Amino acid sequence: MKPIAQLEGIRKTYYKPDGSVMVEALRGIDLTFMPGEYVAIMGSSGSGKSTLMNVLGCLDRPSDGRFLLGDRDVTSMNDEELSQFRGRTIGFIFQSFNLIPELSIVDNVATPLFYQKVPRAERTERAREALALVGLGDRLGHRPKELSGGQQQRVAIARALVTRPLVLMADEPTGNLDSATGRAILDVFEGLNQQGMTILMVTHDDSVAYRCKRVVRLADGLLEYDRPSPRMMGETLTAKA
Ligand SMILES: Nc1ncnc2c1ncn2[C@@H]1O[C@H](COP(=O)(O)OP(=O)(O)OP(=O)(O)O)[C@@H](O)[C@H]1O
Ligand SMILES: [Mg+2]
Repeated sequence: MKPIAQLEGIRKTYYKPDGSVMVEALRGIDLTFMPGEYVAIMGSSGSGKSTLMNVLGCLDRPSDGRFLLGDRDVTSMNDEELSQFRGRTIGFIFQSFNLIPELSIVDNVATPLFYQKVPRAERTERAREALALVGLGDRLGHRPKELSGGQQQRVAIARALVTRPLVLMADEPTGNLDSATGRAILDVFEGLNQQGMTILMVTHDDSVAYRCKRVVRLADGLLEYDRPSPRMMGETLTAKA
């Protein structure tokens, strides 16, 4: 089996306007992700989780190192190629849902397909399918503001899935949700992972990471550890907490 994503010596440095170094957010990260993995990326605030997730999601470029996604070397792509490739390969879910308020949820979900020039009838059909998958098949005509936070996040998941991506990535997807709603979102992820979807997720919450299969922890821009989740090790959550 070939890796889905491979990072080699990934660094990300933020510079001040005068060119001097402001922050070394990632200081040399080597990681390999295989198909079907379900990974929590953890670490304290400022440790580099979002920076890493943005590199993985091709939303940002590393300052140094090599990043292979699928069978392509992302670091060598130009901006146009990268944005095309990102659209076909990655489903990205944000903490704040990022839905378009004026559009119905079916149109929100169909939006990425518009950019892929999929014909309208097929866009709608695939958006309906994706919404059914997250349990919102009966809400197609609603606007985002008519839905609860958890339902809005499920719309965002459907939008991430509609392009049939290679991998789902999420930065604190349950961060804006109460814990019961967050658990429902994790149920959706777990179901998708059981069907074979690879999921990489940033979280600072131990109970969220517990439900993943692998936990990668960053500290100050470096890998602190990379190991099976406590659940995979047979530990119970209460014993851990
Ligand atoms: N655009 C930017 N310009 C300058 N510095 C940045 C930028 N984005 C992030 N940083 C810095 O890089 C470091 C890592 O930030 P990052 O957002 O990746 O942390 P994080 O682990 O996601 O934290 P949190 O848990 O608070 O979301 C921090 O020191 C942060 O201040
Ligand atoms: Mg962050």
